[in-house]
Amino acid sequence: MKLRKLKSDADFAGKRVLIRIDGNVPIKNGKAIDGPHGRIARSAVDIDWLSQRGAKVIVLSHLGRPDGKRVSAYSLKPVAKRLGGLLKNRVTLSRDIVGPKVVKLVEKMKNGDVLLLENLRFDPREESNAPSFAQALASLGDLYVNDAFAVSHRAHASVDGIVSDLPSFAGPLLANEIAILSKLDKQLKHPFILVMGGLKIETKLPVIERFLGSAEKILIGGALATTFLVAQGFAVGKSVYDADGVKEAKALLAKAKDKLVLPIDVIVSSSVRKDAQTRCVSVDAVKAGDRIVDLGKKTLARFEDELEHAKTVVWNGPLGMTEIPKFCHGTLAIAKAIAERTGPATTIVGGGDTVPVLESAHLADKFTLLSTGGGALLEFLGGKKLPGLEVLESE
Ligand code: 3PG
Repeated sequence: MKLRKLKSDADFAGKRVLIRIDGNVPIKNGKAIDGPHGRIARSAVDIDWLSQRGAKVIVLSHLGRPDGKRVSAYSLKPVAKRLGGLLKNRVTLSRDIVGPKVVKLVEKMKNGDVLLLENLRFDPREESNAPSFAQALASLGDLYVNDAFAVSHRAHASVDGIVSDLPSFAGPLLANEIAILSKLDKQLKHPFILVMGGLKIETKLPVIERFLGSAEKILIGGALATTFLVAQGFAVGKSVYDADGVKEAKALLAKAKDKLVLPIDVIVSSSVRKDAQTRCVSVDAVKAGDRIVDLGKKTLARFEDELEHAKTVVWNGPLGMTEIPKFCHGTLAIAKAIAERTGPATTIVGGGDTVPVLESAHLADKFTLLSTGGGALLEFLGGKKLPGLEVLESE
């Protein structure tokens, strides 16, 4: 897939550039949880790049799902603060998203200034892709840049509709993600190992099915693996799994045969407390009071063996209960094994929940691509067409 890219030698001085980012990060006690490899931090690089070239940068983002209403818990205040800290520059947050007050703020902007508009989803017209909202946003700028892969699966006004009203381009962050991801289609190097974790089978199934033919092995961990263990008839005690997905897991097991590599042993715990006692047991020895919280030692060794000669690795979803540091061991060991292959292999890692874990182990920059996408990445990998990308495809 080839996107219309922003030209690095274009003259941005004095141009009003609307840049769509995905600042949708967790907010805790009024603070944006966004490390050095977080979504805001990575968008800040491109915002800074435009600002340094004299553009008047108008930043568009959503946060959460406020359902078309102004909800203070979803205000972009924490995002503005994080962005301001990264840019070492004051970022003005406009309370209004469109309308005369915003027009005035834009008129006052000097070259290099950064203005962030309040949460786009406070206006119901964002999600309904209303032309009136897309046009009102477009009227604020001279050109539009989509730098938000993570929301490109949504046909929303700031992602899709706006493209009809302004010269539109993919920003560097988005263009880089798509350039790497697109190689999975035409230039796939083998052996190709797909690693899938997380919980909901319905979001992972299209990806597994798409690569069933091309991947040499598909390694399954996390709560997703537990669903497969249930499908195989194993008792899983009090473990979390996707009860609605057992039927689909059974069907996939029948189809995939020995392509799927499932845990042969697991770490179990009687509780999910930090100080919980754990045991490594074979998958047929999980007791009624046990919870599966991580990959077992033999499974880890098996997964590491499969990864050792890989030339392409795609990994999405935590392989254990990574909310608790004690249960991150398997996820981190696999992250390390994948990171070690980067170079000889193209390594693509889905961010989301795993970014803080990877950052804590200094692994976040050790992959060919640490994607910013959650649902968007799964849809892309599953072979779906993403509306925000389709409108930016070059002829
Ligand atoms: C995400 O976090 O995956 C994106 O920001 C999209 O959010 P949404 O699922 O609420 O559209």
